Amino acid sequence: MPEVARGLEGVVVAPTSISKVDGEKGALIYQGIDIHDLAKHSTFEETVYLLWNGVLPTQGQLATFSKELAADRQVPAPVLEIVARIAAKDDAMATLRTAVSALSAFDPEAEDMSVEASHRKARRLTASMGTIVAAIGRARAGLPFVPPSTERSYAGNFLYMFTGTNPDPVVERTFDQALVLHADHGFNASTFAARVTTSTQADMHSAVVSAIGTLKGPLHGGANIRVMQMLLQIDASGSTADTWVRTQIAAKERIMGFGHRVYKVEDPRAAHLRRACQAVGEAQGDSKWFHMSQAIERVVREEKGLAPNVDFYSASTYYMMGIPLELYTALFAMSRVSGWTAHIMEQLLDNRLIRPRSDYVGKRGVPYVLREDR
Ligand code: SDX
Repeated sequence: MPEVARGLEGVVVAPTSISKVDGEKGALIYQGIDIHDLAKHSTFEETVYLLWNGVLPTQGQLATFSKELAADRQVPAPVLEIVARIAAKDDAMATLRTAVSALSAFDPEAEDMSVEASHRKARRLTASMGTIVAAIGRARAGLPFVPPSTERSYAGNFLYMFTGTNPDPVVERTFDQALVLHADHGFNASTFAARVTTSTQADMHSAVVSAIGTLKGPLHGGANIRVMQMLLQIDASGSTADTWVRTQIAAKERIMGFGHRVYKVEDPRAAHLRRACQAVGEAQGDSKWFHMSQAIERVVREEKGLAPNVDFYSASTYYMMGIPLELYTALFAMSRVSGWTAHIMEQLLDNRLIRPRSDYVGKRGVPYVLREDR
């Protein structure tokens, strides 16, 4: 029996061309292009095209693709009704999971596994997730749903649906960059869940629902909410960030937003999100959260030798944008659905059922005792 790799740590399960996470160098590439170049120069629409097609679009292709994506932002009324009914009662990611599952009933190609239908479904799922997340935010705030516009960018349209007003251009660009940074990341748990589901030849909606449920966990996408809860707790505690974090570490508590299964050095995405946190704070004339985050980072690096991951600075950046904490993981999902669907389509092109073995450590040779004798 081969050595058990707990949590599949270090196990390579399949080839992929979509993205590579280099844990030693702290590097990330999407279809061969460095994340630093994409974060600086790309947009979410262009990055989605890249993830799905393997190459950057020409200007003309990008214009056409952006129009197609914008046209798919509409969500069927019955799905919006489900969101309106449950959003205030349920966790935002649970509502998103339920709504995306319901989408399949209104997608005529839900069970069509062809390449062409898969691309169209990936577009519809990615476009409508932004609308659903905005609808969840509005319903939780007791505000009326704002229908999507087809004129704005993906980022701009989300902020418009969420706030009901035209977004500030700096906030829109910052949000667009965050969407680029969250789009894909190798075989992370939620992407792997999507691939496992797809490997049984289950449909794309089922695979995306598997991924949403997986991303929800606090060790994965759910960390960003807990990062902001930590910052708010420190702010309310009257203690310094330094003292508060040292106490947590001494109590063997995990500091959310730090550490990573693959990165042994800083997550390359964190550098851009750190800058975004600083820039939004300065633009708003309130750098409290940035300074607090810097203090936390200093202590965790010093005490645990851990660097921030994608969730640490994104949390306070979203907070300063006026987005409520409970939506942060859903923001992660509406970007990562582009990566999930890229992996689903790649899995379908060269599929093999994903079915690992286990090391049975239970009892053996136990006799069956008749019920009346027990
Ligand atoms: C994401 O996989 C991806 O690519 C994910 C992601 C993506 O884009 O898809 O990058 C997004 O999920 C980022 C991670 C978000 N999660 C968090 O921020 C939660 C806090 N981080 C940890 O729980 C942890 O770092 C993990 C879960 C991210 C990684 O955990 P591992 O690889 O299983 O490491 P481990 O739990 O075995 O920890 C190794 C050691 C332990 O110390 P010892 O018990 O051996 O003394 O490091 C310590 C841990 O206690 N440690 C931490 C810590 N993370 C690890 N100690 C304090 N705080 C932390 N955050």
